[in-house]
Amino acid sequence: MTDTTSNTGDTWSVDDSAELYGLNDWGCGYFGINTAGEMTVRAPGMTDGGASLPELIKGIRERGLDMPVLLRIENLLDAQISAVNNGFNRAIEDAGYQGEYRGVFPIKVNQQNQIIEEIAEFGERFNHGLEAGSKAELLIALASLKPGRGYIICNGYKDEEFINLGLGAQKLGYTIFFVVETPAEIPLLIDCSRKSGIRPNIGVRIKLATKVGGHWAETSGDRSIFGLTSNQLVDLVDALKQHDMLDCLRLLHSHLGSQIPNIRDIRASVMEASRYYAELVREGAPMGNLDLGGGLAVDYFGSRSNRVNSMNYSLDEYCADLVEVIMSVLDPLDVPHPHIVTESGRALVAYGSILLFNILDVTRFEPHKLDAVAEFGHEYLGYLSDVLGNLSEERLQECYNDAVYYRDELRELFRRGQLSLRDRSLGEDYFLEIMQQVRRLDPGAEDYQSDSLTLGDYLADIYYGNFSVFQSLPDVWAIDQVFPVMPLHRLGEKPDRNAVLADITCDCDGKIDSFVVNGDIQRVLPLHRMKEDQEYYLGVFLVGAYQETLGDLHNLLGDTHVVSVRLHEDGSFQYVKEVEGDSVGDVLSYVEYDPRDMLKSFRDSAEQGVQEGLITPLERQQLVALFADGMRGYTYFER
Ligand SMILES: Cc1ncc(COP(=O)(O)O)c(C=O)c1O
Repeated sequence: MTDTTSNTGDTWSVDDSAELYGLNDWGCGYFGINTAGEMTVRAPGMTDGGASLPELIKGIRERGLDMPVLLRIENLLDAQISAVNNGFNRAIEDAGYQGEYRGVFPIKVNQQNQIIEEIAEFGERFNHGLEAGSKAELLIALASLKPGRGYIICNGYKDEEFINLGLGAQKLGYTIFFVVETPAEIPLLIDCSRKSGIRPNIGVRIKLATKVGGHWAETSGDRSIFGLTSNQLVDLVDALKQHDMLDCLRLLHSHLGSQIPNIRDIRASVMEASRYYAELVREGAPMGNLDLGGGLAVDYFGSRSNRVNSMNYSLDEYCADLVEVIMSVLDPLDVPHPHIVTESGRALVAYGSILLFNILDVTRFEPHKLDAVAEFGHEYLGYLSDVLGNLSEERLQECYNDAVYYRDELRELFRRGQLSLRDRSLGEDYFLEIMQQVRRLDPGAEDYQSDSLTLGDYLADIYYGNFSVFQSLPDVWAIDQVFPVMPLHRLGEKPDRNAVLADITCDCDGKIDSFVVNGDIQRVLPLHRMKEDQEYYLGVFLVGAYQETLGDLHNLLGDTHVVSVRLHEDGSFQYVKEVEGDSVGDVLSYVEYDPRDMLKSFRDSAEQGVQEGLITPLERQQLVALFADGMRGYTYFER
């Protein structure tokens, strides 16, 4: 197993843990470790070192909620809204830019009521608005924002109902922009406006030729799905002129994809969008707003690089670059500066949510009992024992090859019925002991059976966590997203095991095997040995964006409990809200079962059992009660 920890002595400190797990690189200053070796969370302005996450878990358990729990820290959401708005306001002031910053939060990034309520409330001081991509999201936006405050940007396919509601709301004083994403929307928008007599604020999404790096590289550029090409844009301008509606064209929109790691790509796209903006002004449209979409990345990895899960720029640099590039295009043409709109989602909400879970069990790849090979045992067992006896640094590869050969031969013999279970088990133990010793002699040894694994990776423990990747971290499964994961306590102790994490879905994809360790991405995570009768808690960080609603009910593991806290300046905290996760009955009804019918059917079977003398009436009562309790229980493992 590769030694992922550089400190080898007994002098392990919490600073070593912070470095090992990259806390100071990805934590944005929000997370730390206290002298008790517990992970802490702190919000700007706190005089104390921060609130202890194990203490928070203790309080959650005392309130009767089991793990896993999604913990929301309201202050971190507030802090990120402030950071983005202040970043733009500073950049605008420094550059002498004439327009304002008008941020909008794309509801799809986290639609949960509590998140939107917090954004609407805290964002009000900045006039932060919302982006709606569907009818349901428009309803959320209208119910959450007050008229005359933040913008509501309507993206996505819009039908007549959607447009009419938006137009009506405009009369109430909401600032709504209808962004035309495809040519098909134009006649409908013109028609609805004509019938209602309300002139809409029209935006137009353009298809930029600029391609970006990162996960969404393939969907940017010419092959992007949404947006008008330059000739479709000309058609739009002509259609609006023809219907005497060019004065309604007030916003240009572009969005290249989420999590753009390279600032050069962002600069190139802003330059192209600004050029389109200038051309629309030249065509006679009043414009006034330049919406540059989402894409502001989160440094999940903390490497400050243009790797997929990272970003090679800071928030301040992002804001300053956008302002500078827009000015560099518009100033020579004497085009007035538009308000800058961005639709940052990920950067606003990622930090505020942490998935907390406990470890249920561990599998180790070590021999469990190395008995001597009996004289009458199979000869290959004797050969394996000889390989172990002859192991030396000079003959490492040869011994490795021999061990794999004899192990495979023994497996084959077992398949053919020529080897007993006990002899097979002994052969596997010898094999594992040889592998462990090879690794000890050469910690970086390759696993010669596989191209990509080191022997350390091959021999890593499996820690079984009480969570579902599919429900709580769908991007880990779908797009190989790397989230920071680390223990929440015992951080003053050196972690002496290396492990991958498996969830409880019993699906081979239900695992995490990419981790941020020592400033790089590694296949195994250093963890502490489990202690008898003591829970071991881990946290997955920066999970507030996209994970909650993209999750699914694989193995019918439902929504986790959600607990929201607000931190106070002195390090104390307050539980502001708890939402119980799905019960078994809830998830069964999502897939069209009727829990009452199910209970009735089971009760009938139990009654039949009584009639046939298989169980007593008392046993029937207990069984039925167990069934009913199971229906009310949490879908995750309960201690
Ligand atoms: C139109 C639009 N705006 C904004 C966003 C949010 O992007 P991000 O979360 O990267 O800020 C998205 C998501 O991809 C989007 O499709």
